[in-house]
Amino acid sequence: MSCSVVVGAFWGDEGKGKIISYLAIKDKIDVCVRTGSVNAAHTIIYKDKKYALHMVPSTFVYEKSRLLIGPGANVHIPQLFKEIEETGVKNRIGVDSQCSIIEEKHSVTDKASAHLKGLGTTGWGVGPAQEDRVKRIGKLARDMPELKPYLTDVALETNTAINAGKNVLLEGTQGLMLSLFYGTYPYVTSRDTSASAICAEAGVGPTKVTNVIVVYKSFMTRVGAGLLPGEIPKEEAIKRGWFEIAAGTGRERRSAPFDFNLAKRTAMINGATEAAITKLDIVFPACKDAKSFEELSSEAKEFIKKVESSIGVPVTIIGTGPTVFDIIDRR
Ligand code: IMP
Ligand code: MG
Repeated sequence: MSCSVVVGAFWGDEGKGKIISYLAIKDKIDVCVRTGSVNAAHTIIYKDKKYALHMVPSTFVYEKSRLLIGPGANVHIPQLFKEIEETGVKNRIGVDSQCSIIEEKHSVTDKASAHLKGLGTTGWGVGPAQEDRVKRIGKLARDMPELKPYLTDVALETNTAINAGKNVLLEGTQGLMLSLFYGTYPYVTSRDTSASAICAEAGVGPTKVTNVIVVYKSFMTRVGAGLLPGEIPKEEAIKRGWFEIAAGTGRERRSAPFDFNLAKRTAMINGATEAAITKLDIVFPACKDAKSFEELSSEAKEFIKKVESSIGVPVTIIGTGPTVFDIIDRR
């Protein structure tokens, strides 16, 4: 039995989708709760197909996994329906009746606001939907007839599963440096993204959590405006192979080398019990497709050890390639 919380370390795009989809199959995750909203895209490359999911939980690759969207989340109905179709999960997805709804007008406001544009928001309307929720004028999932077949009590389902000894995973969103509370304010998203907040969005108390997995990438990236310590120019990023285009918005990502001090802070605030590191093969190409720690180059091993000594918990999962099974599992 386990209840794992998986969160992003920095500015999102660390590869949570890949790590969670691996855990789904490897650990047979019975129930997964997705939190956050449609601004996040979780990328999963499985059976030669690439998915960039904004709503459907990343454990969908394990066909026995019950897929839930927690009450703290904001649901974008057309996107949800599109992804249900694409992933074929109609019979095993549930939406909490108290999820808030993102309407077309929220996206219009997000895109039209000079302030929000200046922050470089994704334009999906998540911030304006959150505003309506805080004002207590937002619509909830229970108000939407088209969601009726999917409505459920996520907190009850999830806690019942935990108490029955099942494997539960709470899927975090973005990364700690985009948190409304702990990030680079005002260049942040419209919610807290720490492990505690993910539990709150799902309706699971802290005493039920068995492990908190913080997902780091071997280098750092961010989209939109705001501080990125150690940022390197685009030309240098291209040269190093670090240059990325956002899965969700198609925007260019800025990049910087791994910051060990930030890594330590994000482990602290999230209460990390272990860490995952993705894209090790991008920084250390000799590690591509490695399946065991012993196969890694000495430089890469040193890097992992330095991360572990900075964050104070073991790096248990290492990504060495793009697909779900390009993983070193040291657990
Ligand atoms: P918003 O979340 O759309 O309001 O955007 C606020 C900031 O968070 C912007 O800098 C976005 O680029 C960033 N952001 C929001 N969601 C993600 C994500 O999933 N990955 C990376 N950046 C994100
Ligand atoms: Mg992403």
